[in-house]
Order: sequence, then C-alpha cells, then structure tokens
Amino acid sequence: MKPLRFLITAGPTREFLDPIRFISNRSSGKMGYALARTARRYGKVTLVSGPVALKPPAGVTFVTVTTAQEMADAVFTRFVEADVVIMTAAVCDFRPRRVAVRKIKKDSFTGTLELVPTVDILATLGKRKSHQLLVGFAAETDALEAHALDKLRQKNLDLIVANDAGAMEADTNRVTLLYRDGRVERLPEMPKARVAQEILRRITALRT
Ligand code: CTP
Repeated sequence: MKPLRFLITAGPTREFLDPIRFISNRSSGKMGYALARTARRYGKVTLVSGPVALKPPAGVTFVTVTTAQEMADAVFTRFVEADVVIMTAAVCDFRPRRVAVRKIKKDSFTGTLELVPTVDILATLGKRKSHQLLVGFAAETDALEAHALDKLRQKNLDLIVANDAGAMEADTNRVTLLYRDGRVERLPEMPKARVAQEILRRITALRT
C-alpha cells in the first residue's frame, strides 16, 4: 500500500481574555496522540497539537498551537499535502471578542463576557476537500449518534467518530463510527491505543 500523509489535530485550544486568563475545555489530547503514534505505521504524520501534558510521539512532525485561529492556520496551510485529516482536537467554538492587553482588574470587570464564534476548521476543510479523506470526532453528552450524523453531513466528512464527552480525560474510550454511506459501527470500550488501531485500520481500508 502507498504510504499515506496524515494530518492529525489533538488537544484543546485556549481563547484568551487577557494575558493570564483563557477559556478552554477538558480535552487531554490522549486520543489524538494515540492516533498519531499508530498512524506512523501507515505513512507520514503531522500532529498539530493544542496545549497538553503529553510528549510528542517519535517520528511525527510536531506543530504546537494555542488558539483556534492558530490551529486553523496550521491546518489550512498543510491541507493540500494531506491524504487523511483526522480532527480529534476539541476546538473552542467561541472566543472573547476583545483580548485585554493588561490583566483585567476585578473592580473594572462588568460581569459580562462578550464572545464571538471561532472558525469551524473541519467545516471549512469539508468545503475545500478534493482528494482528502476527512475524519471528525464528535464529543456529546446526549443523542450521540443523531448529533454525530448531523456533523458528518454538515461538515461533509467521510467518517465521524462519536464518543461520550465523559471520555475526554480518560485512558479508555467507547466509540461509534458513522460512515458517509450510512454504515454505523459500535465498538466496545477499549484503551485509547487500541481504539486508535481500530480506527486507523478502517481509515486505511477506506483509502484502498
Ligand atoms: N471542529 C473544528 N472547528 C471548530 C469546532 C469543531 O474543526 N471550531 C471539529 C472538531 O475537531 C471535531 C468536529 O469538528 O472533529 C466536531 O466537533 P464538536 O465540538 O463535537 O462539534 P461542534 O461542531 O463544535 O458542534 P457542537 O459544539 O454544537 O456540538
């Protein structure tokens, strides 16, 4: 099989209010890092990572970013050279409208934070895609498969991996795979390294 070029994102993004405060989420990066490590067996890997407490896997091109906009820039510039894009990152959907240059003092804070949407990286890739296989993740607290299916369609994906948001910091994950052709596969709970193997086996089968 021809080696594939993977572009994988992992971890959260941070959206700053001022130089020391930010909005973020519980993403640990474990699932994305496990995928990057395993994807090395099938070709070249670029891992674009938000801030996490993990060591980059050996042999991958490693790019660190902080904000959703930085992640978008890093992904968009590398997209044309990718065969498979896997977005495991928990990209913040909103950012504060203004970033204060100095620490916001509590006496001057009005109690309201104005937020604006960030760029939807995967939806943008869905519009731009040519030869690339696009894989998304959906973290849900309810109606897992229905929400994941909506995202698969709206973002023009080939595959979406749905999991309960409770898996965010855990070492194991139970995922459901929803394919573009309507197939649904429910996998049992497994360590994230095993989940990564199962997902990549299926992705590489889609490419052949
Ligand atoms: N995603 C993205 N850019 C964003 C938000 C999400 O690329 N600004 C990607 C994620 O990396 C993931 C997929 O879109 O692969 C679904 O992310 P999720 O947070 O589950 O869904 P959202 O589209 O953000 O929708 P909602 O927050 O309403 O569930």
